[in-house]
Amino acid sequence: MNYKQALKNPIFKIISQSAKELQLDAYVIGGFVRDYILQRGSHKDIDIVAIGSGIELAKQVARNLPNKPKVQIFKTYGTAMLRFEDIEIEFVGARKESYNEDSRNPVVENGTLEDDQNRRDFTINALALDLGDDQFGELLDPFNGIQDLEDAVIRTPLNPDITYSDDPLRMLRAIRFATQLNFTIEPNSLKSITDNKQRIEIITKERIVVELNKIMESTKPSIGFLLLEETGLLEYILPELTALKGIDEIEGQKHKDNFYHTLEVVDNISKNTDNLWLRWAALLHDIGKAPTKKFHKKIGWTFHGHEFQGSKMVYHLFKRLKMPLNDKMKFVQKMVLMSSRPIVLAEDMVTDSAVRRLVFDAGDYVDDLMTLCEADITTKNPKKFKKYHNNFKIVRDKIIEVEERDHIRNFQPPISGEIIMKTFNLKPSKEIGILKESIKEAILEGDIPNEYEAAYQLMLKEGKRLGLKAST
Ligand code: CTP
Repeated sequence: MNYKQALKNPIFKIISQSAKELQLDAYVIGGFVRDYILQRGSHKDIDIVAIGSGIELAKQVARNLPNKPKVQIFKTYGTAMLRFEDIEIEFVGARKESYNEDSRNPVVENGTLEDDQNRRDFTINALALDLGDDQFGELLDPFNGIQDLEDAVIRTPLNPDITYSDDPLRMLRAIRFATQLNFTIEPNSLKSITDNKQRIEIITKERIVVELNKIMESTKPSIGFLLLEETGLLEYILPELTALKGIDEIEGQKHKDNFYHTLEVVDNISKNTDNLWLRWAALLHDIGKAPTKKFHKKIGWTFHGHEFQGSKMVYHLFKRLKMPLNDKMKFVQKMVLMSSRPIVLAEDMVTDSAVRRLVFDAGDYVDDLMTLCEADITTKNPKKFKKYHNNFKIVRDKIIEVEERDHIRNFQPPISGEIIMKTFNLKPSKEIGILKESIKEAILEGDIPNEYEAAYQLMLKEGKRLGLKAST
């Protein structure tokens, strides 16, 4: 098969020419070829394998490019990278032994193309296109990766135990590709992942999170989480989630399986947002339920305070996985902490004051919170499903209405502490806080509008009640 049309970008001719000048063979390999055949849109990373030194080839390509780009060399890995327009091109010499990035063994170059393909992760990632003059665009596919692409199968080129032990991250990559591409993992591979799951412990958290995020960014993340659970990897990576598994029954009272519920919520939200952190919030919104679960004879199962507990767990989870402990983490915490708030609204009558309080507490994230809560509706009772969605629609409309009228989002009190101090001739004291709080409360309750004059009058009234004297 010839895939010349995949190599239309002029860079490939330049690489071809450079390889010829160095008298070595070069091939495009990996994701670029796979995604071209799958028609997954243009792949922005190109991997080139040279039968010889990848670093020398990169340097030669840079010399042949009009703008002479900088070549970044990664000595430990024996690779080199340069940028051409918006594309990153990575060069590597064909290896005889492990591809393993984290290997403590030295990288063994001087392999043939087939040696190199053998050491790659999956048959669908071992497809190579020849960059030689005469065979330009010829496909080299020793493991029938094309067939696996057609059959939608993830398979390792070698015995999976060998491929996964070369780099245990590949266990996660298998699951990630299965999720992104909606492929199945071939049974021997799946068994090998299950057998070798513990080896994931030697992989850095950063690499694990890259794969987790790719699963999270897929159309249907539950595919990945179900596989992680089935293989036992989830217990090593996110034990907070496996702790949600199962249904307890006491005296005929059951609660739902919060693990499968969570996966439904993640799939639901993924239809409505590409915001990775909001998806994370969906994944973690119920993690506080495992440690707070209790059974009471009269009322059955409760999870009191699970939102607060969950938001604290978010911090520990992010820290353990070396995820950013920045505003993204705080956002996830806030979503988890507030995740039940709109639900209470959806069950009851939606009052203006409840909506004002919601907007006040959620601030700029109120829309994200609504998106999360809508995704959280997984009831199989069509009547309830409709009722909750309708109520959320009312809440959303009310948010807009209240917002236009009362400007609660990013609330700035209409009466400052300074005005209070001046009016009552006060030094900094707790009375100022009390007065500010009662003005805020009155606004949120809807007793007064969010305006200066009304707030001023209330301040005078409340001040009097506290025994304060207005100075004028
Ligand atoms: N590879 C491998 N083992 C790994 C990582 C990568 O064998 N643990 C090989 C595969 O041949 C892969 C190529 O290196 O196709 C490039 O890796 P990478 O850029 O991580 O993945 P892509 O396949 O390009 O896919 P994506 O960009 O979707 O991550």
